[in-house]
Amino acid sequence: MKERVITGVKPTGLVHIGNYFGAIKPTLEMSKSFETLVFLADYHALNFITSAKELREFSLRLASTYLACGLDPEKIVFFRQSDVPETFELNWILSNVTPKGLMNRAHAYKAIVEANESEGQDRDHGVNMGLYNYPILMAADILIYDTKYVPVGLDQKQHCEIARDIAQYFNKRYGETFMLPEAKISESVGTIVGLDGRKMSKSYNNTIELFCDEKTLQKTINKIVTDSRTPGEPKDADCTLAKLYELFATKDEAQDFKEDLKSGLGWGEAKKMLFEKMNSFIKPMREKYDYYVSNPDLVEKILQAGAEKARLIARATLNRARQAVGVNKKES
Ligand code: ADP
Ligand code: TRP
Repeated sequence: MKERVITGVKPTGLVHIGNYFGAIKPTLEMSKSFETLVFLADYHALNFITSAKELREFSLRLASTYLACGLDPEKIVFFRQSDVPETFELNWILSNVTPKGLMNRAHAYKAIVEANESEGQDRDHGVNMGLYNYPILMAADILIYDTKYVPVGLDQKQHCEIARDIAQYFNKRYGETFMLPEAKISESVGTIVGLDGRKMSKSYNNTIELFCDEKTLQKTINKIVTDSRTPGEPKDADCTLAKLYELFATKDEAQDFKEDLKSGLGWGEAKKMLFEKMNSFIKPMREKYDYYVSNPDLVEKILQAGAEKARLIARATLNRARQAVGVNKKES
């Protein structure tokens, strides 16, 4: 049997190119070697998105994005977190073996406390229990599927370690029940740069949305920050434009692009070339994306079928945990 891999993605915004190369593509690659589950972490997003309309819209768009990028729901179990109620029951069980101190040390919570303290605020100002307990829910997501590997970015490494700790606490008290998961950090991808040359991130407002329309894509590319060198002057071949071009081009094409820059290609012309290259890569996927977004019933059907498969695994694990803690009649 193949080892199992799971990853959750929060529907908190529109997917950008950094997300595609840093998360979506590596997950699809990994699914060739592992039994893979991918889910929309909508109950995790609840701490960020407070409008029902927005949460629905982002969920539909995120699901459509994965499908358009080539996720085959026959090969990958693709579902919505909130459609697997077993997770939330396990979340409660796990809460009872999780030391509060472990949650105090979680990065996201600690960062808020530190910011509050430096501003002279109450340390828990602006912290709700959803944020505080976030790592326990993530542990439930991971442990309920007997997960071996969790492919995540560096920022989520600690959450995976917490999930492993919680599994150990539980197993120690009740006997071997949960598999111990491991984070799998993909280092080969590196950091995709944004319009200003820093890491592409929603929080820096420097993203290129993966599936915006062609006009918007062109406009966004025009915003890439360059220096003031004029056409004819040699340019730095290690610039943001070249780094982005490389993602969409063959090795030879990327090399030619760099040579052209070094021999004086103008920024305007270079941006046009980048647009053409990116757009020809994205266009067929964008057409699929638009199709899914305008067929929400089809997307819903896919997610429901995925949830059914996920629940088969989740039910069995939850049952093990229930047996272990003694909330139901002992199975003979
Ligand atoms: P953002 O920083 O825009 O809020 P998220 O934190 O939601 O992005 O990231 C979701 C996933 O995409 C994570 O797995 C993360 O590692 C990956 N990712 C985001 N930005 C980049 C980037 N610039 N380069 C590589 N991977 C990225
Ligand atoms: N916490 C993850 C993030 O912020 C999303 C997530 C929720 C997740 N549950 C998960 C990731 C389980 C991997 C496995 O991106």
